[in-house]
Amino acid sequence: MSFDRSIKIAPSILSADFANFGEEIRAIEDQGADWVHVDVMDGHFVPNLTFGPPAVKAFRPHVKTFMDVHLMISPVDPYIEAYAEAGADMITAHVEAGPHIHRTLQAIKAQGVKAGVALNPGTPVEAISDVLDLADMVLVMTVNPGFGGQKFIHSGVEKTRRVREMIGDREIHIQIDGGVTPQTAPLVAEAGADVLVAGSAVFKGGSVQAAEVYGANMQAIRDSISS
Ligand code: DX5
Ligand code: ZN
Repeated sequence: MSFDRSIKIAPSILSADFANFGEEIRAIEDQGADWVHVDVMDGHFVPNLTFGPPAVKAFRPHVKTFMDVHLMISPVDPYIEAYAEAGADMITAHVEAGPHIHRTLQAIKAQGVKAGVALNPGTPVEAISDVLDLADMVLVMTVNPGFGGQKFIHSGVEKTRRVREMIGDREIHIQIDGGVTPQTAPLVAEAGADVLVAGSAVFKGGSVQAAEVYGANMQAIRDSISS
């Protein structure tokens, strides 16, 4: 498949009904989600706990699009194989999560899945300049990771622009994660992002019974960019 830099929406199931993941995933995909973003937290790298490999494996058969697994864990290397075997299409690791991001990205690629590298708001873009050739995606965090529903950190807009320049014509996606709304989406899209993670902005006000709200929320983000 040719590389696609058009805008993609990746709802984070961190904001879904935790008792009903299968139907929640179906609902967001039916309503036009491009990817499904799975936030993995370890209570150590970030102050929250979410999904181990068995949970991700249980999500897998429900995801018809692309399962993007964001690992907010440290250490990360011992768990890469388990998340790949659970069915991740892409595994993203944080540059801050260990001393050897190059080795981590090599290990992800060795599993035959796409590799993403994430930058926290406090980490300069230079931290990834020497690993870009191993990356299929750069994730620019626009909140400090750990929770949904936080306020967008605006320094991420200029950072996105610098990442976009650094990437040049390489086929590397730029993903934004944290505080994406119809107000902030156009800023990062204009700066060069193409994958927008959104948790609360997609799920707010909706449910599997009222899935059209998810669709309207996603459309509001798309409309904010094209207008
Ligand atoms: C934060 C997670 C995000 C989070 C985004 O640590 O990585 O994916 O779910 O949630 P919102 O869109 O509500 O900021
Ligand atoms: Zn995330």
